[in-house]
Amino acid sequence: MKRSIVIFGASGDLTSRKLIPALYSNFRKKRLPEGTSIIGFSRHPFTDDAFREKMRQAVLEYRPAEFAVDDWNAFAHALSYHPGSVEKINDYLDLAPKVNTMDGGTADCLFYLAIAPSLYPVVVNNLNEARLLEAMGNNGYRRIIVEKPFGHDLASAQALNADLLNVVHEDQVYRIDHYLGKETVQNLLVLRFGNAIFEPLWNRNYIDHVQITVAETVGVEHRAGYYDQTGVLRDMFQNHLLQLLTLVAMEPPVAVDAGALRDEKVKVLRSIRDIPEEMSARYTVRGQYAGYRAEPGVAPSSCTETFAAVQLYLDNWRWQGVPFYLRSGKMLGEKLSEIVIRFRRPPHQMFDVLSGSTELSTNHLTIAIQPDEGIHLRFLTKVPDGGMAMRPADMDFHFRDAFQSIPIPESYERLILDALHGDPSLFARDDEIALAWRLVDSIRRGWEGEAAPLLSTYSPGSWGPMDSDRLLWKEGRWWMQDSISQNSGQDEEKVVAS
Ligand code: BG6
Repeated sequence: MKRSIVIFGASGDLTSRKLIPALYSNFRKKRLPEGTSIIGFSRHPFTDDAFREKMRQAVLEYRPAEFAVDDWNAFAHALSYHPGSVEKINDYLDLAPKVNTMDGGTADCLFYLAIAPSLYPVVVNNLNEARLLEAMGNNGYRRIIVEKPFGHDLASAQALNADLLNVVHEDQVYRIDHYLGKETVQNLLVLRFGNAIFEPLWNRNYIDHVQITVAETVGVEHRAGYYDQTGVLRDMFQNHLLQLLTLVAMEPPVAVDAGALRDEKVKVLRSIRDIPEEMSARYTVRGQYAGYRAEPGVAPSSCTETFAAVQLYLDNWRWQGVPFYLRSGKMLGEKLSEIVIRFRRPPHQMFDVLSGSTELSTNHLTIAIQPDEGIHLRFLTKVPDGGMAMRPADMDFHFRDAFQSIPIPESYERLILDALHGDPSLFARDDEIALAWRLVDSIRRGWEGEAAPLLSTYSPGSWGPMDSDRLLWKEGRWWMQDSISQNSGQDEEKVVAS
């Protein structure tokens, strides 16, 4: 059986930076099913050859180490281009024979919507009208991958979902969250449920709190038009951070299949306690990096947050009373995504720990998602020949050292293959998306109310506004990397959000 992947938005950034390099990588690893053809679709008037050349440049730029002329030439055979407007039905009717008549009409097809979300319903309706969504043969399929953002609030996400599900079934829709394709994120399941030693400790009895950080050093780059309407809460929390939270907090699923996994994730999202409007400033922090308003495309009086920190509680047996601190921002001190599980102190402190060194008496487990993927366990150890002097020690596992010959793949490689093979485990289901929006909407309502936290500016290169540190300090806790307390909030000033 043959199959094709049609990429809408083929001249865009995502196609060049992520999709074609990921497909090329899969091809090199001989994972792309044989006979897969890749058709780029966009308004740009490329010829097949011009499109191939643009994609060759993209792979050279984004995967230089993987580029090999022979492999590329073989891969390029599978590439073709279909110029067309997503709004014109005739362009889909012209596309139909390329997709439908492969291999005597039994071809499967995966449509990748790498376009503005407002166009999703347009594309899906046109695909339907051109009869491109009708799977052929007994086991044939027609699937759609949609990129984030899936809506900009609960109402718009529900409307978008309704538009899609009007035409296709839920099992044909693959809502991508590229964080779920990251190796270390998938490894969270292995760490928790493939080992017996962690699970007994993974609850309110032993865990003091959990921190989830997704920090970026870049600013809005060329995406100000999108970002200024979006902000970090919608751009990062609604999807990536809340997905990480679900994997840390969920109960063991009965099987590693899509239904069981996603059911457990939904339970976590349902258990997140709402933050009442009047408590907004108590549990949330928002910031904007200095200079953001001068970025091209950003409104000069923009109150869009580029940093947020949120303290959440889960109302269930396992996590009652355990705070989950989440933070993410642009232009921070380091590019870093990690989860820190901070364990409780020993109930009785029998050693004479130096005053001020509370750090000494707590254990933590760090799941380093990127860039240095790994797992680190901190514990207390005795200094040899030093009386009873103690100091913290780390047991470190780095993926790169342990699997030197296996480079960590890009998340899109795995996700595209999963969609081709019909495994939606690492994609978000409609109810997950809705629950995540419900939370984000309620935080945003708090930010529009009278008890909203101030929008603080923070210096690029710092770790966000000082309020983010205060969120933990007021409870005797602190963000975990060492650099934080040195850098945060330098030159801080306050601006009041309108
Ligand atoms: C995207 C956001 O989903 O994730 C971007 O829209 C962000 O704003 C990016 O830069 C971060 O992804 P990663 O994989 O680099 O951490």
